[in-house]
Amino acid sequence: MDIFEAIREDHDRMRQTLTDLLATKGDSEERGTLYEQVKQMLTAHEQAEERHFYIPLVQDDSTIEKTRHAFAEHSEADEIVEKLDKTEMGSSAWLTHAKKLHEALEHHMKEEEQEIFKLAGKVLDRQRQTELAERYRDEMLQSMH
Ligand SMILES: [Fe+2]
Ligand SMILES: [Fe+2]
Repeated sequence: MDIFEAIREDHDRMRQTLTDLLATKGDSEERGTLYEQVKQMLTAHEQAEERHFYIPLVQDDSTIEKTRHAFAEHSEADEIVEKLDKTEMGSSAWLTHAKKLHEALEHHMKEEEQEIFKLAGKVLDRQRQTELAERYRDEMLQSMH
């Protein structure tokens, strides 16, 4: 497995969990559980991705700008999560923020998969792509335990 496959796998898991979260109603236990899952996955993914995918990319002229942009989008997603934390889970405002998080992450993951992966494929050789996948997955396993 290479780093692209490893990230894509987690993106798909995130997409599914976000879809499930948005299908929940009101201040329910199901909503609470899925929201905690989204938060844990997001925090773990952002950190592992920054360390084992973007750090090598920030060192290359062809990918530094996209890397900065991706880091900014990670911060934006974190800010939406902070808003969700401060909002009553059963309120319509909560659902509005949750939809915003879904949209922001869909946009971000699509950009990573369609644009950044292409550029990164030229910067990282095959061996590096495999090594990074191992490190990325190790860190994900540890943070998701
Ligand atoms: Fe990302
Ligand atoms: Fe990602």
